[in-house]
Amino acid sequence: MSNIVIGVGGGIAAYKACSIIRHFTESGHHVRVIPTESALEFVGRATFEALSGNPVQTGVFADVPQVPHVRLGQEADLVLVAPATADLMARAAAGRADDLLTATLLTARCPVVFAPAMHTEMWEHPATVANVQTLRDHGATVLTPASGRLTGADTGAGRLPDPQEIALLGELMLERPDALPRDLEGVRVLVSAGGTREPLDPVRFLGNRSSGKQGYALARAAAQRGARVTLVAGTTADLADPAGVDVIRITTADQLAAEIATRATETDVLIMAAAVADFKPLSVADSKIKKNGDRPAPIELDTNPDILRAAVTARAAGDITAETVIVGFAAETGDEHGGVLDHGREKLARKGCDLLVVNAVGDGKAFGMDDNTGWILADGGQETALPLGSKTLMATRILDSVSGILKR
Ligand code: PMT
Repeated sequence: MSNIVIGVGGGIAAYKACSIIRHFTESGHHVRVIPTESALEFVGRATFEALSGNPVQTGVFADVPQVPHVRLGQEADLVLVAPATADLMARAAAGRADDLLTATLLTARCPVVFAPAMHTEMWEHPATVANVQTLRDHGATVLTPASGRLTGADTGAGRLPDPQEIALLGELMLERPDALPRDLEGVRVLVSAGGTREPLDPVRFLGNRSSGKQGYALARAAAQRGARVTLVAGTTADLADPAGVDVIRITTADQLAAEIATRATETDVLIMAAAVADFKPLSVADSKIKKNGDRPAPIELDTNPDILRAAVTARAAGDITAETVIVGFAAETGDEHGGVLDHGREKLARKGCDLLVVNAVGDGKAFGMDDNTGWILADGGQETALPLGSKTLMATRILDSVSGILKR
């Protein structure tokens, strides 16, 4: 159990802090909510007290014998501010301590994460840009906001990232405080995620159990490390678009192949986390295939393009720049011919990518899970074990390896 302080700034997105508070209390953490006075204009004190199970104060003169303006920050394992308004970040960057939240931010020595939410003009204003930089220079993590609908009819950058995403990133910072350096600033990253569906007729398809969680975790972590990320997503569980990521939807392996072929020429890193069907029905029926007696009709299959292999070949031919880092995945079960790692090594040799992430699947592993484990194999022969942890944590370890070989 960790001590989590959730700071809430005075913006319309303050109501979304309730889901984040709930996430951390339900995960068994001890949560203290510290809103600003203006945050209480949007969400009442009673809501925060009921959700956290703890008293809520905004000023430094309540409960003085307990010295909360110092103690809450000192005892915290994570301070997460959501939403972080332009005004709150300006006060924090200036080192002000004029309410309980800013005083807590000054005394905290644990990971501090700001999840900004404001209008695009405010987010892009040079004053806010400078404040964000100051907070990062002081060691805080300032998340990249999402783009989308803002308070009124306007849209743009500055929307609070999805609460589930903020919670996942908060958990990540608890697991690994140095997980989100800004080392991929401006790097173009193309990620595929989820499963493909190969239609058989208007109502049936061949598919797989990929939820997209691993690919989304990679896209999310890369964007929060400063990368310009495009995510090509097949069929996934109900996942929110990661903040700051362009999301393209596809259904079939052929559609994924077309998207990757076009976009791989303009990327610095390609990560193929999608579970691509190797085969598709040779023909797709125009109408629903009818039951014909008791014997099912055999399904003839055709081979899908090997998208990863095609990218490696295109790079060798000069169609993709030689510096592009190509990362493949291997979903392996192990069999009588060898274990998971043996098959991974063989796949790296066959696919010819720079890095291959090997994960064991089957028996409830990897597919659809929140956790993952495996190895990163490099074409130079280095092998790095990835201990069991959240898919977000695994994503950051993979990005560390990518960052290490990226030529800039
Ligand atoms: O989505 P989750 O539920 O979070 O689960 C994550 C995952 C298990 C799907 C993911 O971690 C993973 O292992 N993805 C790759 C799954 C897969 O298709 O593995 P493979 O061994 O069949 O393929 C090897 C590599 O070639 C992969 O990078 C794959 O994207 C690529 N491939 C495969 C077939 C094909 N026709 N074209 C390809 O490019």
